[in-house]
Amino acid sequence: MSNSVPKEEGLDHSLNLLREGYLYILNRRQSFHSDVFETRLLGKKAICMGGKEAADIFYDNSKFKRQGVAPNRVAETLFGKNGVQSLDGDAHKHRKEMFMSIMTPKRLEKLNEIVAKEWEMALYKWQRMDEIELYEETLEIMCRTACEWAGVPVEEKDMKKLAHDLRAMFESATAIGPAHWAGRHARNQVEKWMGNIIDEVRGGKLNPEEGTALYTFAWHHDLEGNLLDTKIASVEVINILRPIVAISVYINFSTLAVHHYPEEREKLKSGDRKIAQMFVQEVRRFYPFFPFAAAEVKEDFTWKDYTFEKGTLTLLDLYGTNHDINIWGNPEVFQPSRFENWDGSPFSFIPQGGGDYYLGHRCAGEWVTIEIMKVSLDFLVNKMTYDIPEQDLSYSKVSIPSLPKSNFIMKNVQRL
Ligand code: HEM
Repeated sequence: MSNSVPKEEGLDHSLNLLREGYLYILNRRQSFHSDVFETRLLGKKAICMGGKEAADIFYDNSKFKRQGVAPNRVAETLFGKNGVQSLDGDAHKHRKEMFMSIMTPKRLEKLNEIVAKEWEMALYKWQRMDEIELYEETLEIMCRTACEWAGVPVEEKDMKKLAHDLRAMFESATAIGPAHWAGRHARNQVEKWMGNIIDEVRGGKLNPEEGTALYTFAWHHDLEGNLLDTKIASVEVINILRPIVAISVYINFSTLAVHHYPEEREKLKSGDRKIAQMFVQEVRRFYPFFPFAAAEVKEDFTWKDYTFEKGTLTLLDLYGTNHDINIWGNPEVFQPSRFENWDGSPFSFIPQGGGDYYLGHRCAGEWVTIEIMKVSLDFLVNKMTYDIPEQDLSYSKVSIPSLPKSNFIMKNVQRL
């Protein structure tokens, strides 16, 4: 069936995607007045879509698949190969259960204790320093937190380097030249190191606590009853460490929001958990992080009079759905209270993907992210004071990932 869906003219628009970053899909959805449009990316026909209905379709496992979708440059840096992101069907469901099994209330409570301890230690250090670069510091706090929570032993002397390597993995997927190759190199090194750790666990030399990611993933059996290949187990443990370190980006945006919206800061001083929750949700909605999710059409199907042809690359606009005027009314206003009456739909608010955690590809670490952000926010607002010197706090809507440009400099940090 042919159709009324707009088509972007031209041979290839990959460069526009890089140039317009987070706004590429949203700009075209607005100018075409359509939540779905056809374009050409990486030399092939591609579909871009956004909004609540589109997200609902995108997360229908009978319509889309993930295997073989991630370009090599993403697999070699951000994701790793043969991890949960690339699986479909029963294999995905079984692997995803492994991830979700470590997200228990007890383990999340443990996580909160660890991250609070790490903030205390960092504050103790910062009080003795003239100034700090918050992004660098939070990368290290998060790396320590991630390793302790996951049961991964790291010597103090290696911590900075590990934080640096994990950061390179999530910063390099869209980078070109040396920054991209640094990300590949970092992944190779960390995967090798983690592979040795998995072997030590299996050989009885290392005994991580039950319930940690290292223990659970090292001893996980696949659907055929076999332990995971060492390399794959390594990729999956890194799928816990790397994104916890990436929460640093959201902590820096939280700090920016606290700075830009002093009236919200006042509300947070009450320590009210609901107020903190709404603030964190609004940070995740408002600021850019993951621009889109990618999948491939599994079998031909028709939606909005348009035939999605088997094998077509399809991007779901995560940033644009969180900034969709039909869902959010005034999306460019930072307004935590909008979450007071939010209906909790799994398809309208999708900074970490949408749909179901267990059956689909929605982020396994969303609860971890929210918990860590809330503990960190409480420190920023209620447990410390600091000065913010003149600096460039603007952030790009093109560079992926984005961050306040100065990496957030603080002076005179004091524990309250
Ligand atoms: C998947 C975002 C933190 C583990 C995803 C997806 C997004 C995302 C957009 C893909 C959704 C899709 O493909 O449909 C984020 C953001 C984070 C974050 C913005 C903030 C830092 C975390 C954390 C963890 C984690 C802290 C682990 C503790 C995962 C895993 C997947 C995933 C394992 C793959 C799920 C699957 O394929 O079934 N995340 N994430 N993420 N995330 Fe996160």
